[in-house]
Amino acid sequence: MRFETARLVIRTFEPSDEEPWLAMVTDPDFRRYLPPGPIPTAETFQDAIQGRHAMERERGFAMWAVDAKETGAFVGQCGVRPVEPTGSEIDLAYHFNKASWNKGYGTEAVTAVLAHVFGSIGLSSVMAVVMPENIGSCRVAEKAGMRFVGIASYYGVTGLKKYVADRDWWKAPT
Ligand SMILES: CC(C)(COP(=O)(O)OP(=O)(O)OC[C@H]1O[C@@H](n2cnc3c(N)ncnc32)[C@H](O)[C@@H]1OP(=O)(O)O)[C@@H](O)C(=O)NCCC(=O)NCCS
Repeated sequence: MRFETARLVIRTFEPSDEEPWLAMVTDPDFRRYLPPGPIPTAETFQDAIQGRHAMERERGFAMWAVDAKETGAFVGQCGVRPVEPTGSEIDLAYHFNKASWNKGYGTEAVTAVLAHVFGSIGLSSVMAVVMPENIGSCRVAEKAGMRFVGIASYYGVTGLKKYVADRDWWKAPT
C-alpha cells in the first residue's frame, strides 16, 4: 500500500522503520498525551509491524508509515484500526516525530487517510479520541474535517474528546 499527498508518502511499514519509529515513540514529549504504558522496545516494533501487515492483508487498512518527500525520511504514522478486534468502530490515529510538528503534516496525512479509507477501502465511519489538553491533535481532527461529538472513555482513559467523520458527509478541507 502506498499513496501520496503533496508533501508526504503514506505506505506500509517496513523493517527498516524500526530505528526512527522507536526514536519517535520513546520521546517523552511525544508520549505526553498518549495513554500511559511500557516504553516500546525493538520487540514492540516487531509485534506492531506483524500485526499491521496482517490487518492490511485481512481488512485492507492499518496504521501506515509516513515519509516526508522533501527528505525521504520517516516522519510519523497515520492510519486506522478497529477499537475492538471484532467490533465495528474504527479508530483513526496520527503520530509524528517532534521535529515534524506544526508543519501541517498531521492534517495532510489525516485528510489523505480519510479520503483513502472512505474511497478505496469503503469504510462508512471513523472516529478519533484525543486528550483535551492535546490542543494540536484537536486542531488536526478539526482541520481535517472531523466533527466533535462529545466526551467519551476509550482504552481505559476517561474524559477524551471524541471526533467522528462519516463517509456520507465528510469532505476534504479546501
Ligand atoms: C498532535 C500531532 C499529531 C499534530 O501534528 P502536526 O503535524 O503538528 O499538526 P498540524 O501541523 O497539521 O496542525 C497542528 C495545529 O495545532 C496547533 N497547535 C499545536 N500545538 C498547540 C498548542 N499547544 N496550543 C495551541 N495550538 C497548538 C498548531 O498551531 C496547528 O494549528 P494551526 O494550523 O491552526 O496553526 C503531533 O503533535 C504529534 O504527533 N504529537 C504526539 C502524538 C500525539 O499526541 N498524537 C495524537 C494522539 S490523539
